[in-house]
Amino acid sequence: MKLLTTLLVIFTLLAGHVVDGQNCAGTPCLCQRRSDSMVTVIDCSNRGLTEIPDFQERFSGVLELLDFSGNELVTFDTSKLGFNFIGVSRIDLIDLSNNRLTSIVTGFAIPNVSPSYDKLNISGNNFDAFPSKAIPLEFARVDLVIDISNNQLTSLDSHFIADNANLGIPTLTFIARNNLIETVHIMAFANARINELHLDLRDNKLTNISQEFYFPISTNREFNLSGNPWNCDCNFRWILQSDYKEISQRAPPLCDNPAPLRNKELFDLRPDDFVCFPVPTTEAGERFGYYQR
Ligand SMILES: *[C@@H]1O[C@H](CO)[C@@H](O)[C@H](O)[C@H]1NC(C)=O
Ligand SMILES: *[C@@H]1O[C@H](CO)[C@@H](O)[C@H](O)[C@H]1NC(C)=O
Ligand SMILES: *[C@@H]1O[C@H](CO)[C@@H](O)[C@H](O)[C@H]1NC(C)=O
Repeated sequence: MKLLTTLLVIFTLLAGHVVDGQNCAGTPCLCQRRSDSMVTVIDCSNRGLTEIPDFQERFSGVLELLDFSGNELVTFDTSKLGFNFIGVSRIDLIDLSNNRLTSIVTGFAIPNVSPSYDKLNISGNNFDAFPSKAIPLEFARVDLVIDISNNQLTSLDSHFIADNANLGIPTLTFIARNNLIETVHIMAFANARINELHLDLRDNKLTNISQEFYFPISTNREFNLSGNPWNCDCNFRWILQSDYKEISQRAPPLCDNPAPLRNKELFDLRPDDFVCFPVPTTEAGERFGYYQR
């Protein structure tokens, strides 16, 4: 009898229903659907889900929000959304924040398999590498936003954003705040045709970026570099003459090294302040002079 009850509970939990309206009555009640004539919200947040439920219902048109935040998902297999989402042309926001995700499988914007999105929130998960399947296969819309803050990424690798030079991303806002990123590969954003890049790398472990780092050229860019332990030695002097000053203005980065420059605003320094040790004898006096001030 006890076993039967347990099985019944498990079955009810697995066979997900989407419940209409603000209040969810009865069981099974995994997700709520709120819709008016224009938009639909599917809210599956904070339900202790370990799997994507079987929705048992077809959706169509544009979804405003598919919300799986605050669950216990470890992997997100987009194909599990299944047939029910084939009629969905686009989802404004897919929120997978605050789960335990380590992988995304199958991918987004695959015809007859999975929908596309404008904004994907995978912050607060357990990713230690960027899940390449997070990037929609096709993207023609104006603005793509991906938030992978509060994970454990250690690097942004070559071509991680797309291995497909035909993928056009007019504007990409990539937010990877508060990870453990030490290296950004010079070709990290090179392959996809990105016209405008907003890159938020605040609160990581970056000590430098390569002068060769490929940053898509456009008039409207932003690069947030604060909260990193920048090494302001002679190898980094080039940054003063670069565009980074202008595009990083709103979140000014501070130096962490060498010790005399600790907590100094990087873009307030003079080229001569960026020294390597041992300081060449001919110039040592002048440069050490600065340090003694
Ligand atoms: C992503 O989700 C987190 C947690 O819910 C939230 O704080 C953050 O603002 C969201 N990111 C974006 C870009 O909306
Ligand atoms: C630049 O960053 C890499 C990765 O952390 C590090 O190995 C290298 O020593 C750094 N170079 C300088 C000059 O700080
Ligand atoms: C940094 O990047 C974010 C996007 O994550 C943006 O909203 C914010 O205005 C930027 N600027 C500063 C000063 O943090």
